[in-house]
Amino acid sequence: MGILDKCRNYDDAEEVRQLGLYPYFREIDSEQDTWVTLHGGKRVLMLGSNSYMGLTNHPRVIKAAIKATEELGTGCAGSRFLNGTLKIHRELEEELAEFMGTEACLVYSTGFQTNLGTISALVGRREYVVTDKFDHASIYDGARLAFGEYIRYEHNDMADLERKLQNISPEANKFIVVDGVFSMEGDIAKLPEICDLAEKYGAEVMVDDAHAIGVLGPNGNGTAAHFSLQSKVAMTMGTFSKSLASLGGFLASEASVIEFLKHNSRALIFSASPSPANVAAAREALHIIEEEPERREKLWENTRYMLDSFKEMGYNTGVAETPIVPLHVGDMMTAFTMCHRLEEEGIFINPVVPPATPPGDCLIRVSFTATHTRDDLDFALDVFRKVGIEMGVIDS
Ligand SMILES: Cc1ncc(COP(=O)(O)O)c(C=O)c1O
Repeated sequence: MGILDKCRNYDDAEEVRQLGLYPYFREIDSEQDTWVTLHGGKRVLMLGSNSYMGLTNHPRVIKAAIKATEELGTGCAGSRFLNGTLKIHRELEEELAEFMGTEACLVYSTGFQTNLGTISALVGRREYVVTDKFDHASIYDGARLAFGEYIRYEHNDMADLERKLQNISPEANKFIVVDGVFSMEGDIAKLPEICDLAEKYGAEVMVDDAHAIGVLGPNGNGTAAHFSLQSKVAMTMGTFSKSLASLGGFLASEASVIEFLKHNSRALIFSASPSPANVAAAREALHIIEEEPERREKLWENTRYMLDSFKEMGYNTGVAETPIVPLHVGDMMTAFTMCHRLEEEGIFINPVVPPATPPGDCLIRVSFTATHTRDDLDFALDVFRKVGIEMGVIDS
């Protein structure tokens, strides 16, 4: 067997393509908006986007990106560490630190790299990183890359977290890393209990707020602020690829942590910095989030309406409590077929299947934005009722 034989023999995706149900890499010909145009011309309601504030095509955000490109070019041609730090990187870091209520902040090229570069740099030999089993893949990969020991606890199970912490030597340094909002289940981390356990067992806490920035907290400033726990959370990461309508990531923390990461985080030092357009777009999106709290209110109004309506219809929404709502629909073929039928009826959603879920518990992951209108949502509910009954996922 050669190393590439696994590729040459790989036909999982092709089997689904042959059935006409392949749901990935679908091409979109329009901007990311509440309605998008699929390649071929079909208009569909977007219920699979993470643009919670609906800012990816906001005129101010687009204008800021164009202006930055015209003034500063298309790329930085180097890493933050060397020739790739511009004044706008530093200015955005200062504004994000203020927004998050931390001493300092560090901008990375993606959220994935933020987690990878932070966790792997911080957890050294004989130190422990402890994560929730449903944390994002970038946390998992960052923990695997670190030289320290890696332990996972059952999803949001505080008794299991305590058991895991008890089994670690009291003298060892411990780092708990947890998603603020879980990206598939749509539930919120039990941060008050996590912080209490961290205090009891001498651990530091890092929160991944990829899905919480803009969404949770009095100003959209994340999960720690939502629980008034900023003083107990050592570090928060965020991404620009969701509410901030761009591409990039950041870590907000005390100045000494940022200083250490600037000189030890390989994903930062050995990768090019985010382009002027990305930085300027994220910055303008941040300003709009701060200026227009009504966006967050609308997002939550939409979320409550849809969660209640799905439950009334008989859908199993699991533990969802945020704008991410997973519908538990059964096996993989049901999820793929449902995704296909929903698209035929004018709705774009993302199916979530093994290994991201157990085999018989696949999800239709639906997410909402501040820019969905009540008409959009009522249209969606009609389609979900029709397709759910047709597929036998809900009763008529
Ligand atoms: C919880 C979580 N963390 C990190 C990331 C990575 O962010 P980015 O898209 O900026 O790489 C994502 C994005 O999918 C996410 O959902």
